[in-house]
Amino acid sequence: MEHEHPDPVRAGRRRVLITGAGGQLGHALEKAFAGDDVVALLRGDWDVTHPADSTLAAGDLDLVLHTAAWTDVDGAEADPQGAAAVNVAGVAHAAALKAPLVTFSTDYVFDGRKRSPYVESDGPSPMSAYGRTKLHGEAAAGQNAWVLRTSWLFGSTGHNFVRTMLRLGEERDEVSVVDDQRGCPTFVGHLAAAVRELVDGDLPKGLWHVAAAGECTWAEFAEAIFEDAGLACRVRRIRSAELERPARRPAYSVLRSERAGAPTLPHWREGLRACLAELVG
Ligand SMILES: NC(=O)c1ccc[n+]([C@@H]2O[C@H](COP(=O)([O-])OP(=O)(O)OC[C@H]3O[C@@H](n4cnc5c(N)ncnc54)[C@H](OP(=O)(O)O)[C@@H]3O)[C@@H](O)[C@H]2O)c1
Repeated sequence: MEHEHPDPVRAGRRRVLITGAGGQLGHALEKAFAGDDVVALLRGDWDVTHPADSTLAAGDLDLVLHTAAWTDVDGAEADPQGAAAVNVAGVAHAAALKAPLVTFSTDYVFDGRKRSPYVESDGPSPMSAYGRTKLHGEAAAGQNAWVLRTSWLFGSTGHNFVRTMLRLGEERDEVSVVDDQRGCPTFVGHLAAAVRELVDGDLPKGLWHVAAAGECTWAEFAEAIFEDAGLACRVRRIRSAELERPARRPAYSVLRSERAGAPTLPHWREGLRACLAELVG
């Protein structure tokens, strides 16, 4: 006989799959969705360049939070096919699980020629192999997906600018940081809360720009990190050309949403404080 009320423990708890759980956003999402029945997968559990195995594809998932990605922006220039295998085919494989999907894209789909915030209806024009793979990945997400473009992610785990600056700030008196790229440094804890807002509010699927309030250059961000962490390291402001990195990056990539009901995130400076509090706590 069918039970009218299934297992009371499962009732109300969604079965949520997180890919890239070893990454900084995956980690924050695992915390934000802790009240659900979460399956958090590392690369060793599922290499997303291959279709999921039949146990995952069995169709009893309520939500897939797909954060697994090739995020080495410079490395993608040397191996664009390797990057596409993760950032395009990987998204298609996540979408093939047939559950509602949240997937993440980037401000690097834009060329940075604007001087006012990029909104969802602005035409993308990526300058890098990474940006191109992420743009194609957006298309691979299909109709049953929230595609969140976000930017300059940082958190208390993984590889990110804040953790790099904290390390360098302990070791050196001065660091050189680019001052000709402007964007929105976004704390993964705040982004994860916004993901819940979109999903729990059942906001319409499709493309959403979700980044911290405020804007700054990387040099200004570094100065704020040193100030808030109490480090006496100076920032020498340089131009991107001086770094000679393989991938070009947009000079301006502030993201804002033009969509009704879009989640708004706290200011990046508040995100920085929250991240530093996690690091010392
Ligand atoms: N970081 C940013 O500034 C930024 C900005 C805008 C958008 N985004 C997007 O936001 C999302 C999350 O980024 P993040 O900063 O959290 O990235 P991250 O810290 O680099 O984490 C990505 C995770 O994906 C895993 N991964 C890589 N290739 C994989 C594969 N073939 N199969 C399974 N897992 C694989 C990595 O595992 P390993 O540790 O084993 O390599 C890593 O744990 C990505 O879609 C990214 O493109 C990031």
